Amino acid sequence: MKRIGVLTSGGDAPGMNAAVRAVVRTAVANEIEVFGVHKGYRGLIDGGIERMDARSVSGIIHHGGTILRTARCPAFMEPPGRALAAEQLSRRGIEGLVVIGGDGSYRGAHALAQEHNIACVGLPGTIDNDIGGTEYTIGFDTALNTAVQAIDRLRDTAASHGRIFFVELMGRHSGYIAMYSGLAGGAEEMLVPERPTDINALIAELRSERERGKTSMIVVVAEGDDAGSAYTIAQKVAAASEFKDTRVAVIGHLQRGGVPSAFDRVLAARMGVAGVEALLRGTSDVMVAFENNGIQTRPIADAWETQNNFDPDLFRVARLLRV
Ligand code: ADP
Ligand code: F6P
Repeated sequence: MKRIGVLTSGGDAPGMNAAVRAVVRTAVANEIEVFGVHKGYRGLIDGGIERMDARSVSGIIHHGGTILRTARCPAFMEPPGRALAAEQLSRRGIEGLVVIGGDGSYRGAHALAQEHNIACVGLPGTIDNDIGGTEYTIGFDTALNTAVQAIDRLRDTAASHGRIFFVELMGRHSGYIAMYSGLAGGAEEMLVPERPTDINALIAELRSERERGKTSMIVVVAEGDDAGSAYTIAQKVAAASEFKDTRVAVIGHLQRGGVPSAFDRVLAARMGVAGVEALLRGTSDVMVAFENNGIQTRPIADAWETQNNFDPDLFRVARLLRV
């Protein structure tokens, strides 16, 4: 393999730049040409493809977002869109592609590999940590720490006024950020999509905590919780209980940006190197995964065929510690 491409796709995540840097520099170190694709699969279809070198990725390791930009591209979900993308690659002699994104982006890479014999490798880049087959995704640790900072700040004001705060964190289908930040921030309750929420049970818990002497409380809500948004849940609680004076904070996209943590940068470096080395070994249709403190490659379909739900023991730990 003499030429490879790299793109970022789906929601951006802090550490994606560090991953692009690792891919580009591993390619250069192995004397193969590397091309950056702009705006994910959109750029693949439109030909937004540019040669990169070691200096193209200077000074980006500590920046959030992605210098390659990202996009959601409905056209790539259909075979004609992928045929156009494959043509753009073969016109330039690009035989391999590193796709940094979530499981939707992986599905696209899988289809491209299957239909057009382009060697594709996925690197997990999403703040949600919801990709099967890997214990951590690039961006999760940074987003988690941003969420914990928000909880810490809200705790100050909640304690001063003796209020209940409902804090909504990202995760449409995944409660990872909510569960981990709730544990790290000492939240009283964590409501996540992985476990059904019962409003009456929540009220009973809050009441019991108040009776145990807690004057303020933090309820963390993942945006994808089955009982609704943090605003909806706060309203439901107020309507059915004495807890009327509550406040809601939606942290939202603040969790997506910012300086990537050291953990995310190291993960991105290791995964970027592993992704290019997988292509050089002739491997295709694989994802790079973090497992037992090591970096592995696995079939890309593991991303959606296996579950990456957190250990239910975390619920037990949280319950014990809010005594
Ligand atoms: P993420 O990669 O973060 O999960 P999305 O689910 O939005 O984000 O997917 C990003 C892009 O990947 C989509 O806009 C589309 O171009 C491509 N994609 C997603 N699902 C598929 C699919 N089933 N087949 C082909 N391409 C897909
Ligand atoms: O997948 C990452 C994520 O941040 C989710 O947690 C969130 O639901 C979604 O992206 C938001 O997407 P958008 O930036 O398109 O609003």
